[in-house]
Amino acid sequence: MTRTSPNIIITGTPGVGKTTHSETLAQRTGLHHLDINDVVKKHNIGESSNDPDDPNTKIVDEDRLLDCIENDLEDGGQIIDWHACDLFPPRLIDLVCVVRCENKMLYDRLKKRGYGEKKLQENMDCEIMEVLLHEAREAYDEEMVVELRSESTEEIDSNVERIEQWIKNWKKDHGKEGKKSIQTQSEQDRKDEDDPMFLHG
Ligand SMILES: Nc1ncnc2c1ncn2[C@@H]1O[C@H](COP(=O)(O)OP(=O)(O)O)[C@@H](O)[C@H]1O
Ligand SMILES: [Mg+2]
Repeated sequence: MTRTSPNIIITGTPGVGKTTHSETLAQRTGLHHLDINDVVKKHNIGESSNDPDDPNTKIVDEDRLLDCIENDLEDGGQIIDWHACDLFPPRLIDLVCVVRCENKMLYDRLKKRGYGEKKLQENMDCEIMEVLLHEAREAYDEEMVVELRSESTEEIDSNVERIEQWIKNWKKDHGKEGKKSIQTQSEQDRKDEDDPMFLHG
């Protein structure tokens, strides 16, 4: 692994607060907000759905999407903002945050967004059935997956602070891990040379 900064997925049902979290986190940490909606638009890799009730929804070619972002993910430091998560290769992912929101609140947010009744219901079902949480837990190691509630601005702040701290620890651990193995080896060599038991043993 060459990346010196982690890749973090911020996922969840539409409307739970992914973009709000990703933007705040990017501002606070300098990591890059990789909004997959923007990638899809920029590279024109979304096909319009055939559903007449939902003409704005795009069906995304996941292979092409991965081709577009793989180099960024190899480099690290990406906050991936998307309502699916199991397409990103686990070897390139360090943390998966599943953002959650209480049903009534989610309903109001999606209604405000102008979602039609069918799309609204589909997304409510998605949240109620914990679809993204299951998807995340199936695709990634369980200890990489955290659930974050996003129902107040205080919760955004505390979630972002928590992730910020996690990033600091990740960087410390990964910086140290490299150094530690070198140090341990040279320390070991020195010890072995100095240790009379070694020479006689
Ligand atoms: N924790 C929160 N407290 C208050 N409002 C929130 C919170 N999280 C999200 N929102 C609001 O809900 C709406 C949807 O949030 P957004 O980040 O766009 O969701 P997503 O990217 O998951 O679709 C926005 O209007 C946002 O301001
Ligand atoms: Mg969003």
